Amino acid sequence: GKGGYDHYMLKEINEQPTALGRSVSGRTDSGGEEVDLDGFLPGSFDGIDRVHLVAMGTSYHAAMYAESLLARRGVPARAFMSSEYAGSTPPEEDGTLVIAISQSGETADTIAAVRAASAERTMVATNVVGSSLTRECDDTLLVRAGPEIGVAATKSFSAQVATLSLLAERIRRDAVGDPSPDAAAFLSALTRLPDQVRRVVESGAAERIADAFADSESYFFIGRGPGHAVALEGALKFKEITYEHAEGFTAAELKHGPLALVTEETPVFAVFNGGTDDTETLGNVKEIRARGGPVVAVAGGETSDLAETVDHVLSVPSTHPELAGVLANVQLQLVAYHAAKQRGRAIDKPRNLAKSVTV
Ligand code: M6R
Repeated sequence: GKGGYDHYMLKEINEQPTALGRSVSGRTDSGGEEVDLDGFLPGSFDGIDRVHLVAMGTSYHAAMYAESLLARRGVPARAFMSSEYAGSTPPEEDGTLVIAISQSGETADTIAAVRAASAERTMVATNVVGSSLTRECDDTLLVRAGPEIGVAATKSFSAQVATLSLLAERIRRDAVGDPSPDAAAFLSALTRLPDQVRRVVESGAAERIADAFADSESYFFIGRGPGHAVALEGALKFKEITYEHAEGFTAAELKHGPLALVTEETPVFAVFNGGTDDTETLGNVKEIRARGGPVVAVAGGETSDLAETVDHVLSVPSTHPELAGVLANVQLQLVAYHAAKQRGRAIDKPRNLAKSVTV
């Protein structure tokens, strides 16, 4: 059952600390030394020169997130929508690892991409033991989110990013030969993430933001790096359960076209990573403010400077810049949830959608 919550989606949003704890526990230590990913012992990824990630929907956004994590660790990586993989990908070279990401393990487009792959090695990161993709791929990595009933993927995204964070660090060690320079800080931040997510779900701030912008008809989401993946995911969640127009962009993209749509009627959610790229994102936010667009910054740490520029700050606990996106995403899940609830939408079963897209 829904365990006392109005919807499975809200229950599953609240389960994220537990889901993340399961994804991370026993797989690394707070000292950030070890990465112990089930059967993937050190050396498992020797000879891997590049990674192709294939997925759809929310899982594609996790793939984009992982692409950024791998690339920053010196492992060339590209995320593809599964449906585009066979038709528009250069032939795989030796040393390519194809990683499918799928909550259900049953997504037809992703199964087709894996079948079309000629890579020596394929693996799937999935939530479902024994699913079709586990049979199609050479290796399986479980994301351990627990059963997800709501059509809107929530805890599976967080658990995917946590699991892929560990995988990125494992692949880096094997492919490059040493831990990434920032490994200790990154992995210890990962172990703190479950508690930080708990603080976000308990804060209640997202509901007030959803109320403040209840009358808008178009919502934009921007970010860069991992924050770009989160911007796209924030927009997907918002549109699929509120039925309002929502679009995600990379922050720099706006001035190349979409800024023409920005008015006082278009709230923009800006994801800040808490790293050096925040300065550029703040520049993009000022361009939006100059056109009268209301801006909600989703940001961690010290935000008093930011608060002078934007209309609202949805704050998250401060963490490693590569993990801030997970916390921002939880805030955006909650904004979408409350916006959909105000509109009386069928949150757990949005119109026209199915949990598992097997056609
Ligand atoms: O089961 P999968 O992760 O392969 O599903 C892929 C998408 O259909 C899925 O992520 C979808 O976009 C979400 N349910 C949207 O919230």
